[in-house]
Amino acid sequence: MSFDLVLFGGTGDLAWRKLMPALFQAWRHGKLPIRNGGGRILAVARDERSDDEYRAYIRDKFAGVEEAKKPSDEEFARFAELLHYRRMDLSQPSHYAGLKEWIDARGADTAVLFLATAPNLFPVICAQLGAAGLNGPNVRLVLEKPLGHDLESAREINRIVGASFTEAQALRIDHYLGKAAVQNVMALRFGNALFEPLWRRDSIASIQITIAESIGVGTRGDFYDKIGALRDMVQNHALQLLTMLAMEPPSSNDADAIRDEKLKVLRSLKPFNAETVARDVVRGQYRAGAVGGQAVPGYLEEAKVPPRSNCETFVALRTEVQNWRWAGVPFYLRTGKRLAARDAHIVVTFREVPHPIFPGTHQANKLVIKLQPEDGLELHLLAAKGATSALQGHEMLSPVSLDLDFDKAFPTERVGGYERLLLDALAGRLSLFVRSDEQEQAWRWVEPILAAWSEDSAGPRPYKAGGWGPAAASALVARDGNAWSEEM
Ligand code: BG6
Repeated sequence: MSFDLVLFGGTGDLAWRKLMPALFQAWRHGKLPIRNGGGRILAVARDERSDDEYRAYIRDKFAGVEEAKKPSDEEFARFAELLHYRRMDLSQPSHYAGLKEWIDARGADTAVLFLATAPNLFPVICAQLGAAGLNGPNVRLVLEKPLGHDLESAREINRIVGASFTEAQALRIDHYLGKAAVQNVMALRFGNALFEPLWRRDSIASIQITIAESIGVGTRGDFYDKIGALRDMVQNHALQLLTMLAMEPPSSNDADAIRDEKLKVLRSLKPFNAETVARDVVRGQYRAGAVGGQAVPGYLEEAKVPPRSNCETFVALRTEVQNWRWAGVPFYLRTGKRLAARDAHIVVTFREVPHPIFPGTHQANKLVIKLQPEDGLELHLLAAKGATSALQGHEMLSPVSLDLDFDKAFPTERVGGYERLLLDALAGRLSLFVRSDEQEQAWRWVEPILAAWSEDSAGPRPYKAGGWGPAAASALVARDGNAWSEEM
């Protein structure tokens, strides 16, 4: 297979911070399909540079990449042969015609056009690509979030994309779907016979999803302030994880079979209204504190953040999936910046034994799916301590966990999120990309929260940087007799 991968926004943050390192890893792992016929990576941006100048620019950027993922000089020289650069004024039809000529001249099997630009440029780029005929059957378009800021704007983007590209050509990235742990949720549930019979309300008491970040908004204050944690993390990443956990077994591994089931989950989520938002959703904003021993400023002191901003940097909420499998089981979602650690995980808490015969320790079994900083699985069980006997009336059971470390189990097979998604985009594997109806349904579900907040002058609750968010988030789960994982 041969390919052309065009990166619009080729000198931007996303391109050099995430995409180029991921492409380099894919190349290093021998996974880029370049053997027969080759591949080209074309960066497009507005300033004038030669291919060699662009290669030097990227080589400098690689200096910031973690050691194990840094190319040697010799590796970079070989990888850089794939890199090309082209200046484009994105409003100029003739520049798209030139791009089409460049692509057509070689006639690669696939052209993947990756929009890594500011989202306000998507409409013009899509329209121009369509007008230039750069939307043929061998072309795929990859779109990065944010895709809209509410249902209406997301629909508008989908309409514009849909005017030039079919649904199967438009790949919406949610990089959480590229994380290894998400593959493992699928593998665990549908590749093993053990869990699926238990994967329902009869055996599961609650599910919690935490995506905690220790970083603040950094230099993105102005951008972030218009978005907030609900749009930045919940509408997409957290809900995508929820769909993977709650969906029915798809009839096949086919992209639409999976996405149909995910859509059904989104449609089954309990809708919010003003009253339930007040009760079941907690928003917070960080204040100055310390993270990892370092003093850090509060959100309102961050660069480019308006002084009285009501933007939330933390959200915790309780919802339910209203169907036969999940009726009544609480799903708790939580995400925030400047929390105690970079830690993303899912805790599936099983019901306690119906009739305990051992005195002392009672503890529900838990399955912990770890996404970050490392991915892994822990199954928390109770086992006999051995030394004492139940008959003596002492505590006999003790918590133990089965701990699967995938880095140890598969040391040479580790693939990063963007690497996986880029390879899938090149190969036309769509199951890890979000379909427009999923994306719109996720917006539909978060909209009442946004509406309720806009009417509520109380604003977000303050929380100290370096903790786990406002106390109200703990109260939210405590109401059901539950606790967040760090409080268990
Ligand atoms: C992005 C958000 O989608 O995900 C960022 O816009 C966030 O605000 C990032 O920091 C988190 O991604 P990861 O992979 O580092 O958990």
